[in-house]
Amino acid sequence: MAVAPVVYGSSDRPPRGDYTRAADDYTCEQDYAQYSPADHDTYRRLYERQAALLPGLACDEFIAALPNLGARDRIPRFADINGRLKPATGWQIVAVPGLIPEVPFFSLLARRLFPVTDWLRKPEEFDYVVEPDVFHDLFGHVPLLFNPVFADYIQAYGQGGLKAERLGSCEHLSRLYWYTVEFGLIDTPAGVRAYGAGILSSAGELAHSVRSPEPQRVAFDVMRLMRTRYKIDSYQSTYFVLKSFAELFDATAPDFTPLYAQVSQQTELAADAVVADEHRYPAAA
Ligand code: PHE
Ligand code: CO
Repeated sequence: MAVAPVVYGSSDRPPRGDYTRAADDYTCEQDYAQYSPADHDTYRRLYERQAALLPGLACDEFIAALPNLGARDRIPRFADINGRLKPATGWQIVAVPGLIPEVPFFSLLARRLFPVTDWLRKPEEFDYVVEPDVFHDLFGHVPLLFNPVFADYIQAYGQGGLKAERLGSCEHLSRLYWYTVEFGLIDTPAGVRAYGAGILSSAGELAHSVRSPEPQRVAFDVMRLMRTRYKIDSYQSTYFVLKSFAELFDATAPDFTPLYAQVSQQTELAADAVVADEHRYPAAA
């Protein structure tokens, strides 16, 4: 059955995926026959470049889990990844034609199903692609689904999303996804490291987020984070730093109903707002 395509924000671009392929829950089959030899080669080159950048920039949990993606010289089959992922943490990945609306997205996560866009960027988009593609979704998101604590957090986020939808608080909750799942940093004895998918799948932002003196790196704090707007068209000005994945799970476990009421009373902070007396983590060496 055909579902409506999704465009977030204002855009003149036609939606890129073919949503006529999608079922009511927005999932579809991974269209493996669509991939040309050139696509497999683009994926191989993206993987090779990004994997080479990880030491000293990505967290150890991510680096250790990356080989679970399997093939690095061609786009992997989702079924092969699921053969390892399901036994590891109970998660599975499901193909989608592209971005999907909030409620279906939260519903999949709540069922431990992670939506992965099945098409790949074109070679001319090697350095930057506007919408998430199969490389971003697989390379960026799937390795940490093998981590038990992080895997539980993503499911809790999906359940929390369904609740936020009822409370009209999706905007605030989405900041949590943005600043953790997409752009999160974590502190380690060797300095800050990246765990967010938007950073880990980006050739430029990976070093920027961890090593550049430009952005500020502040301690993860749910209220501070939910007050802070984010940038969708440039590198982030502010990154939030976890002490551990357990901190992320524990800090987001309480009922957010009172937090949403509180945060909606407070002034918003700009993406680059500097808060007085706030601890900042140094850039990694
Ligand atoms: N505990 C949050 C709530 O009650 C849900 C949530 C969990 C949100 C994990 C984000 C991450 O709404
Ligand atoms: Co993403």
